[in-house]
Amino acid sequence: MVELKNKRVLVVGASGGIGGAAADAFSAAGADVARPGRDELDLLDDTRIAAFFGSQAPFDHVVIAAAATKTGSVARLAEADAEAAMNSKFFGAYRVAKAAKINDGGSLTFVSGFLSTRPSASSVLQGAINAALEALARGLALERAPVRVNAVSPGLVDTKLWSGMAEADRQAMFEGAAKRLPVRRVGRAEDIAQAILFVATNSFVTGATVTVDGGGTIA
Ligand SMILES: NC(=O)c1ccc[n+]([C@@H]2O[C@H](COP(=O)([O-])OP(=O)(O)OC[C@H]3O[C@@H](n4cnc5c(N)ncnc54)[C@H](OP(=O)(O)O)[C@@H]3O)[C@@H](O)[C@H]2O)c1
Repeated sequence: MVELKNKRVLVVGASGGIGGAAADAFSAAGADVARPGRDELDLLDDTRIAAFFGSQAPFDHVVIAAAATKTGSVARLAEADAEAAMNSKFFGAYRVAKAAKINDGGSLTFVSGFLSTRPSASSVLQGAINAALEALARGLALERAPVRVNAVSPGLVDTKLWSGMAEADRQAMFEGAAKRLPVRRVGRAEDIAQAILFVATNSFVTGATVTVDGGGTIA
């Protein structure tokens, strides 16, 4: 069990499934965890991001598990929705990464997604955004050293991200995915939180993307 007593951790997106589980995992390890809502730190708002970090002491670990994106094939997704998705998930993380004050030896973690390496014809842009985030982590790991920068790439995880779907459709999607996956189940937010805690606290991990997808990439 890692010990994070007296460590300051920021989780952006802690009201969500993966961010909430990550915040709980850091708290359980003894860290002092900040969980700002959008009213305090909005991914889309440079001014609010600057004000947030201006009011805070540096953090030891920062996790960005927030995004709101529409998805679809290139042919069907409206360009405005595509730009909004990139603006939220990629540039949101970029803005927070740029503004975040992180202590030497600390870490910054992005949450990408396995579509970066396992494309889907119905979610093309998501894959491109996730790949861009993973590349951002590798580059920033050099720029921000000795702060470590990594990405955790989830497969399908049962969170409120999918709450916009009709219950029957969502269950059918989860059951279909569970049948295809080598582990025979979809992910839980806690599965991803464990990996986030790992990359944040293992002092030899930087510039890495850790895939936690139940075998989704190879299935
Ligand atoms: N679940 C999956 O199957 C899956 C798979 C691969 C990758 N991912 C990625 O994992 C990350 C977390 O997903 P999740 O499943 O935990 O989703 P979720 O439960 O829907 O949570 C999304 C979080 O993002 C926050 N958020 C959205 N827009 C924001 C903004 N403009 N400013 C600040 N916060 C904002 C939400 O805040 P509010 O509560 O205010 O809305 C919420 O806390 C996302 O990047 C997602 O793409 C998820």
